[in-house]
Amino acid sequence: MIQKSERIWLDGDFVNWDDANIHILTHTLHYGLGVFEGVRCYLCDDGSSAVFRLKEHVDRLFDSAHIAEINIPFSKEQITSAILDTLKVNKQKEGYIRPLVFIGDGVMGVHPHDNPVRVAIITWPWGAYLGAEGLTNGIRVKVSSFTRHHINVMMTKAKICGNYVNSILAKKEVTREGYDEAVLLDPEGYVCEATGENIFIVKDGGLKTPPPTSILPGITRDAVITLAKDMGIMVVEERFSRDELYISDEAFFTGTAAEITPIREVDNRTIGEGRPGPITQKIQRAFFDVVRGKDERYKHWLTYL
Ligand SMILES: Cc1ncc(COP(=O)(O)O)c(C=O)c1O
Repeated sequence: MIQKSERIWLDGDFVNWDDANIHILTHTLHYGLGVFEGVRCYLCDDGSSAVFRLKEHVDRLFDSAHIAEINIPFSKEQITSAILDTLKVNKQKEGYIRPLVFIGDGVMGVHPHDNPVRVAIITWPWGAYLGAEGLTNGIRVKVSSFTRHHINVMMTKAKICGNYVNSILAKKEVTREGYDEAVLLDPEGYVCEATGENIFIVKDGGLKTPPPTSILPGITRDAVITLAKDMGIMVVEERFSRDELYISDEAFFTGTAAEITPIREVDNRTIGEGRPGPITQKIQRAFFDVVRGKDERYKHWLTYL
């Protein structure tokens, strides 16, 4: 169960966690058109707290809304302040932040017409999404029988609520069989992403990740590309097949929730040595140093509370 915080920001005001309720005719609940973000705040070694890449997350929230033709009734500055205020009100030094833009009740039917656009910001403590053990030792994944979205079926660059039905189907399918996470292929059969993560492989010392066509352009993915290049590791954004994934030297997922999670097995084939490889570990270490404010070079990615 989720660990409750005290207050939730709802449409501009703070309400108690248990009072953040909505009407059953809330449009998004029926048809899935809403947009959201997942953001993390980290406790730094000096005792301060910082939100990782807050600007990029707020920008993506507004981009998602633009794609979905939803007019957010607050400015980017207001949402940014509300995120920081929610963390402060909840005295939360570290955890997850979920801004959610949804369409309220009014008319029913697919077209939401002038139903009100509502915004909630929820924060709560959330540890390693794919398990602390997985972060350290790597996880076992399986290619799902469900295909990721075609770019003209769903808008993949938007974090739209309804997009995640596809993720849920894949996640349920593979976790039922004992795997930790699903890899989804795009409609042409190339490796695309996971249910809530982007994917990287390592081969001959270089990184490869699918290009930002049918994936959600992850903010962690972008950070990893920058960190790797700054470390002198070559990165290519290029499509690859599932058998290329099988014979990779190392593989890992990136995501706000999953952070940098190594992959040790795909479809029952061991990846590399079956444990996090040296490049994955190097990138993971660099990432955690950055988010915890230990690396001066990337302090511009942090917004301190
Ligand atoms: C489908 C999908 N792909 C990739 C990601 C990773 O994106 P980010 O690193 O911005 O969290 C997420 C999570 O937001 C996601 O839901």
